[in-house]
Amino acid sequence: MAKKNNFDEKESEEVVDETYEDDLEDEAFEQEVDDDFKTDAPKTEEEKLKEKIKPKDIGKLPGIGPTSAEKLRGAGYDSYEAIAVASPMELVAVAGLGEGTAIKAIKAARDSLDMGFESADKILLKRKTISRLSIGAESLDELLGGGIESQSITEVYGKFASGKSQWCFQLCVMAQLPKDKGGLGGAVLYIDTENSFRPERVAQISKHLGVDPDEIMKNIYVARAYNSNHQMLLTEKSVDLIKEHNVKLLIVDSLTSQFRSEYTGRGQLSDRQQKLNQHMRLLQKVAELYNVVVFVTNQVMSRPDILFGDPTDAIGGNVVKHASKTRIYLRKGTGSKRIAKLVDSPSLPDGEAIYNVTENGVVD
Ligand SMILES: Nc1ncnc2c1ncn2[C@@H]1O[C@H](COP(=O)(O)OP(=O)(O)OP(=O)(O)O)[C@@H](O)[C@H]1O
Ligand SMILES: [Mg+2]
Repeated sequence: MAKKNNFDEKESEEVVDETYEDDLEDEAFEQEVDDDFKTDAPKTEEEKLKEKIKPKDIGKLPGIGPTSAEKLRGAGYDSYEAIAVASPMELVAVAGLGEGTAIKAIKAARDSLDMGFESADKILLKRKTISRLSIGAESLDELLGGGIESQSITEVYGKFASGKSQWCFQLCVMAQLPKDKGGLGGAVLYIDTENSFRPERVAQISKHLGVDPDEIMKNIYVARAYNSNHQMLLTEKSVDLIKEHNVKLLIVDSLTSQFRSEYTGRGQLSDRQQKLNQHMRLLQKVAELYNVVVFVTNQVMSRPDILFGDPTDAIGGNVVKHASKTRIYLRKGTGSKRIAKLVDSPSLPDGEAIYNVTENGVVD
């Protein structure tokens, strides 16, 4: 895994800055931000964002002792965000808190999270730092308003052989191209949960795009996730690699397969959803904090309650639906033809694009 990244070698001037920033980031994760960043210089937007999303210890909320904190964590209420949006009765039920204590803890969590309003110009400023990753096929770039956005999660879902993993291989190469070629000029992290990563395919696509397959391969860091806990741990660990190797794209193929095979019974559904939710929140944080593209694939199931129209629905229900900012439904056409349907985007109209999956990858 610890290969030298040739992006670092090329841009030696930037290395100095990045190393310095890396140190700050490490400290920010481990120590109290308030104590470490007492400088007179105004905080940058990134620093403010980091402070905002830094996980806070729920044991510090008023009335929450170590035992209650443990019980809350065990039930999935492991962050200020989770407490802030909980109802008092939920906390009473899972941690045996008094109702008054629960209300106080919820209020304290809400106050400290700054859950209020933000002026639109600040949001616009943040959105200006979003980069776009071209897919390498014009029809698809057009469908997505110029490519896949950084700072949020993009999901493709569809049946087997609909082309989900092929998109991943294609993006492994595209992400490494320079910005003027539609890329992000960065490395790739690939969390493979189904043992379906195929370097041979990445090599074929690289050749077609006129880049050296060996160089491309050196900048794809692949980890096989053996179960859902491992998958979540790898996502946490990705933070270090992202900083170290100038990673601009994080792929999870597939997001849900491990969760789906581990939590099978109806009774386990809420546990599964809670864990998936935690996983999605972390992916979202990584996307925002490091300005990376997070690209996930998802399987589908057939819904027996839909009598008219397409009964296909993505796995993961509302948890995945809400966390993925952009969702694309992939279908197989005849031969190499594939159809991509933009199902959900906060800023683009729904639409469809036809493209092909060939030896050369995802092409028009
Ligand atoms: N070398 C190739 N040349 C042409 N087409 C290929 C090549 N490799 C794969 N494909 C096409 O891609 C399909 C497989 O797509 P992909 O692996 O992306 O499926 P998937 O959506 O990830 O499915 P699953 O849910 O099983 O993971 C094959 O059926 C084939 O049509
Ligand atoms: Mg696949």
